[in-house]
Amino acid sequence: MAVQTLKDLLDAGVEGRGVLVRSDLNVPLDGATITDPGRIVASAPTIKALADAGAKVVVTAHLGRPKGEPDPKYSLAPVAAKLGEVLGRNVQLAGDVVGQDALARSEGLTDGDILLLENIRFDPRETSKDDAERLALARDLVELVGDDGAFVSDGFGVVHRKQASVYDVATLLPHYAGTLVAAEVDVLARLTADSERPYAVVLGGSKVSDKLAVIEALAPKVDTLVIGGGMCFTFLAAQGFSVGNSLLEESMIDTCKALLEQYADVLHIPQDVVVADSFSADAESKVVPATEIPDGWMGLDIGPESVARFSSLLSAAKTVFWNGPMGVFEFAKFADGTKGVAEAIIEATGKGAFSVVGGGDSAAAVRLLGLPEDGFSHISTGGGASLEYLEGKELPGIAVLEG
Ligand code: 3PG
Repeated sequence: MAVQTLKDLLDAGVEGRGVLVRSDLNVPLDGATITDPGRIVASAPTIKALADAGAKVVVTAHLGRPKGEPDPKYSLAPVAAKLGEVLGRNVQLAGDVVGQDALARSEGLTDGDILLLENIRFDPRETSKDDAERLALARDLVELVGDDGAFVSDGFGVVHRKQASVYDVATLLPHYAGTLVAAEVDVLARLTADSERPYAVVLGGSKVSDKLAVIEALAPKVDTLVIGGGMCFTFLAAQGFSVGNSLLEESMIDTCKALLEQYADVLHIPQDVVVADSFSADAESKVVPATEIPDGWMGLDIGPESVARFSSLLSAAKTVFWNGPMGVFEFAKFADGTKGVAEAIIEATGKGAFSVVGGGDSAAAVRLLGLPEDGFSHISTGGGASLEYLEGKELPGIAVLEG
């Protein structure tokens, strides 16, 4: 990557300097309990390296999609506590984003201190489409680190957003890619150029429309593209089968039909599915051929024959990218498809394949299903960001670091 990295900044010296770090600490929460701290853990090394080197570290991050005003539901308080625990040191949380409390706390920082600002999306300027508004917020952020401050972009999961704390602030301060951003970009680059063959991609998740661009970008380049999750039902409907009460995007049926025709040798969809009589953890369930989903039932996972076929396709792969669960893995009854496919990828990795798990849900599935994280070559922290990278789109948060 032709950008300055954290190492360049550390070499230049940060002792006593204010350094603003944009991290992606957008973790799943159940009330105030963090259900998967993966992004916090992945963000820690850059913050720690700066604090260890004596910087006054100001971290900015978002949580969820609040409506541009403070909302206790989206406070970063649980995240600050967890970040402190992971780092093994005190992390202060400002009571606001760039207001009086943030300013007073940033002025009081001593070398090696860490201050987390409250959810950056509590300020409507963060996501504004008006360049001047975003720039005004970026200026307020700069004020917190002072004139000789620096900016480290480490929130890979958010680099596809042209937002004040991701993009505009980099236009105002000397900017550097944090270790997480640099590592993520290096890994994804391996999936786009000279990938070792066979190259297999596994896509899941609920909507075809969310994945259409990545299907169109990858299908011509890969040897195998396996489709599971809620979106497989629109593909089954495109083949003329009834899908009962399963998820269905009617408006995408023709698109799916065209994809199935154009990439007949590459696309693989399930031949059996696990159906349920309701969307619940204790629903009645049974395995049926994908062509015979009964009326009134909904598909919540891929079936065992599909797992076996997908696994044999994956076991031969030398490069694997996986985004999106195969079923509703949060319910134990419907987790076998996701688990089976993940295990096949782990096996391929053990045989030397380069495997990348991309996306919040699949990364969370790995951890929630108790699968070994080191069974994969890389678990990306970016959902939308890794997909947009693979689609070949320019990521504003990366492009701005190149300038
Ligand atoms: C994510 O969860 O993918 C990132 O944190 C970005 O969040 P966003 O989709 O709300 O911008």
